[in-house]
Amino acid sequence: MISKKLTINTAAKKAEIKKEIYGHFSEHLGRCIYGGIYVGEDSDIPNTRGLRNDVVAALKDMGIPVLRWPGGCFADEYHWMNGIGPKDKRVTMINTNWGGVTEDNSFGTHEFMDLCEQIGCEPYISGNVGSGTVREMSEWIEYMTSDNVSPMTDLRKANGREKPWHLKYLGIGNENWGCGGFMTPEYYANQYRQFQQFCKDYGSNKLFKVACGPNGGDTTWTEKLMSMLNPMIAGAISLHFYTIPTGNWNDKGNATGFSEELYNRTIRETQNIAPIIESHLKVMDKYDPDHKIGLIVDEWGCWYNVEEGTNPGFLYQQNTMRDAIVASVNLNIFNNRADRIVMANIAQVVNVLQSVVLTEGSKMLRTPTYHVFKMYKPHQGSTLVETKLENTMYAHEDIAYTDISCSASETKDGDLFVTLSNANLHEEYVLDVAIDKAFSKYDARILTGAMGDYNTFDAPDQVIDKAYSGIALNGSAAKITLPPCSVVTVKFTK
Ligand code: AHR
Repeated sequence: MISKKLTINTAAKKAEIKKEIYGHFSEHLGRCIYGGIYVGEDSDIPNTRGLRNDVVAALKDMGIPVLRWPGGCFADEYHWMNGIGPKDKRVTMINTNWGGVTEDNSFGTHEFMDLCEQIGCEPYISGNVGSGTVREMSEWIEYMTSDNVSPMTDLRKANGREKPWHLKYLGIGNENWGCGGFMTPEYYANQYRQFQQFCKDYGSNKLFKVACGPNGGDTTWTEKLMSMLNPMIAGAISLHFYTIPTGNWNDKGNATGFSEELYNRTIRETQNIAPIIESHLKVMDKYDPDHKIGLIVDEWGCWYNVEEGTNPGFLYQQNTMRDAIVASVNLNIFNNRADRIVMANIAQVVNVLQSVVLTEGSKMLRTPTYHVFKMYKPHQGSTLVETKLENTMYAHEDIAYTDISCSASETKDGDLFVTLSNANLHEEYVLDVAIDKAFSKYDARILTGAMGDYNTFDAPDQVIDKAYSGIALNGSAAKITLPPCSVVTVKFTK
């Protein structure tokens, strides 16, 4: 057992934790959209206008604030007009990035907006810069958000949607340093400036425009991009950072049945996102000292080898307790930078990479990552408060990382909500917590298991969160016990 001190100062209020930090990403990739979210109205799988009822209910329950679509790499080859109108007349295309499958465009703008309305989340559209035109993007915005008398408004109405949709978040391109066009930062920044200019605010709809930011630690991209942006034209820039346990794209390691060494490498790799975020914020500070442009962690999560026997282009992987620890670590990192991080989207919501939900035919399961998102829900919209934790950095064989991850917020009801994880596989921690005010009650949850534990379609509730009593509370002092490989949340109330 290792004992450490944690101090929580609720009087030191830092920033609102934007609910959008708990965002998700859905791409036309593998079985994310087709099969995972959309099965069509004629399916035997219970659905509402083609959208799976079980998946929608699970996402709603988890509390999904924002959903990004249609990509990813797919976004820069997506032509939105192919995805509207009668389904039997929609033009097909080849999904060149993801398995070369035929995309029939049966899931398009109307279906995506319906999904967001059914879930109750903000839509986040990723527009096509790489192979699209300024006019195409401009008309898409008009189609979705205008109530004027205009050709695009008429077209939307003819396709069955009378009222415009509300659309706040608009990404201008995706990974334009890579699959989105292999552009230089200067070239992309000029493209960004031009494209965004023709994406207008119609009526009361106000766009929040997102510029394609860096790949991992590439601060040169951030530097050049930021030097050509200003807060009048950009709400945020995006960062993509994936956790690849081996650091080798050709053999990323498996999602299940992995060694303790690979587990340790995963935790160390995922913690690298914190200094990478800091390095980009430092560059952003130089060009935007008033912090008007936010940072969005647009794509994050673990990326492993695909499950054996599945299409390599579909990026389908299982999800274990290791992923739960990764989710907890990342969400705490984002919370602790709530002053600058305005959104984060885990990749991807269903059946692709670090998903919260997996499906197989009519079956569905919630992954350990799902339970972490659900456990962390009270942070959404709460106020980050100061936490000070003694150093818990230890070597695990020859791999060093910080065992305990933590963040805390004050909820709108005045409760103190604390989220923690213990990444150490062998040591229990007991935290001596000193809070600057007294509480009389607590409500705690725990998610724990062996590092490789996961849910299957036959046993979907092997790894689920449970009520936890490993807390001793005495006014403003508490002891929190964190078993090895666990995620714990505690809500203190007066
Ligand atoms: O999430 C899978 C892919 O990863 C996305 O399409 C792309 O943006 C990133 O490289």
